[in-house]
Amino acid sequence: MACQIANVQLDHLEEIGAEWGLSFGDLDTQGVECRFHKCLDSILGGAETLPLSGARVAGCLHIPYVLQDHSNCVLIETLTALGAEVTWSSCSLTAFPGGKSLNMILDDGCDLTTLVHEKFLQYLKDIKGISEETTTGAHHLYKAFHEGRLKVPAINVNDSVTKFKFDNYYGCRESLVDGNNCATDVMLAGKVAIVAGYGDVGKGCAESLRSYGARILVTEIDPINALQAAIAGYEHFSVMPEDAIVCNINHFNVGIDVAWLKANAKQAVNVKPQVDRFTIPSGRHIILLAEGRLVNLGCATGHPSFVMSCSFANQVLAQIALWTTPGKFPLGVHMLPKELDEEVARAHLAQLNVKLTELSTEQSEYLDIPVQGQIKASHYRCTYRLHA
Ligand SMILES: NC(=O)c1ccc[n+]([C@@H]2O[C@H](COP(=O)([O-])OP(=O)(O)OC[C@H]3O[C@@H](n4cnc5c(N)ncnc54)[C@H](O)[C@@H]3O)[C@@H](O)[C@H]2O)c1
Repeated sequence: MACQIANVQLDHLEEIGAEWGLSFGDLDTQGVECRFHKCLDSILGGAETLPLSGARVAGCLHIPYVLQDHSNCVLIETLTALGAEVTWSSCSLTAFPGGKSLNMILDDGCDLTTLVHEKFLQYLKDIKGISEETTTGAHHLYKAFHEGRLKVPAINVNDSVTKFKFDNYYGCRESLVDGNNCATDVMLAGKVAIVAGYGDVGKGCAESLRSYGARILVTEIDPINALQAAIAGYEHFSVMPEDAIVCNINHFNVGIDVAWLKANAKQAVNVKPQVDRFTIPSGRHIILLAEGRLVNLGCATGHPSFVMSCSFANQVLAQIALWTTPGKFPLGVHMLPKELDEEVARAHLAQLNVKLTELSTEQSEYLDIPVQGQIKASHYRCTYRLHA
C-alpha cells in the first residue's frame, strides 16, 4: 500500500475525539489549521510502504484542560495512517493489541522517557527511538545522555526552527493572553507584567503583553538574552502589587513555587476552576492560574492549530527517521536535518498562499546555495525583530 498521506481522510478522528468527549465535524469549516498530514506526502517523496509499519508509538503530549484539542487528534490519526499503532499518555504502556509494549516514544517534556528509564526498564530494549517536543525536555535528554543515563537514541524536535520559532514564540504570543483572558477577564492595558526568562517563549509573551498596553519587566540570567530585552526596551523586575496574577507558561508545574504559596497563605479561595486567590502573609493577595501548571493549556485551548501543525510535522518526521533509518541515529540526541526543517516551512507556506521566490542559477552559483535548499547552514537558528 502506497503512503498517500495527503489523501488521508482522518477516518478515526471522530472516534479519537469521542474518547476525549469531542465532536469534530468538518475541520475546514471550524478553521482548524493543523493540516500537516496534507504536506507529508511531498516531504516524504511518495514512500512506497507505510513508513511507521510495526512501530508502536506511545505519545505523551500536553493536552489542554479545556478539551478542544484537534491538533493532538490529527497527530494520532496521521501516525496511524503512516502504519503505526498508537497509545497516548493516559493509556497504559502496554495498551497495544496482544499486550505488546511500546517501541517508540513521542514525548513532550521528557516525562514518559524518564518514567521508562527509571521505572519500566524492561521496555527499554525494544524502544527504537524518542522524539522530544519541548525545550526543557530536550535539556533533560542532553543531560541524561552526558551522564550516561540515556539508553535510546533521541531526536530533539524542539530545536527545529519550524518548531521553536513558531510554537514557542508565535504560539505563546497568542495562547498566553488567551489563558489570562479566559481565566480572569482582567484588562492587560495599563498593567505591569513581569516576564521571567526572555528566551523564545518569553519573547513571544513579552511582545504580546506589550501589544495590549501592559508595561513589561523582564528577568534574565543569560547576559545575551538580557541584552536583547534591554535593547527591545523592556525594564528589569521590582515588586508584586495587590492581586498580582501569577501564571506559568514554562515547564509542567515547576515555574512557580506553589508549595510555598499553599504552605504560607493565610487563606486560599477557589474563585473558579483553574483560578485561586491566596492571601499571603503580608495581607496582599496573589491570583494563581491553573494551579501553577501551563496557563495556556490549563486556562485556554493551547496554541493555535497552525503552529501545532508545524510542530507535529517535525514530530512525525522524527518518528519516521528514527524508525526507518536507525543506522543514522546512534545513541545520543540528534536534530532533524535542516532540509526537512525547510521542507516543513515550504509545505506550510502553501497553506498561507505564499509564493516562495527561487534563486536563479546564477544567483545560486554565486551564493553557493542550492536552489531547492538546504538554504541555511545547519547551525542557523534565525532571529527576531527586537522591538514591538
Ligand atoms: N506552554 C507552552 O505552550 C510552551 C511552549 C514551548 C515551550 N515551553 C516551555 O517554556 C520554557 C521556555 O522555553 P524557551 O524555548 O523559551 O526556552 P529558552 O531556553 O529559549 O528560554 C528560557 C530563558 O529563561 C532564562 N532563565 C532560566 N532560568 C531563569 C531564572 N531563574 N530567571 C530568569 N530567567 C531565567 C534563560 O536564560 C533563557 O533565556 C521551557 O520550559 C519550555 O519547555 C512551553
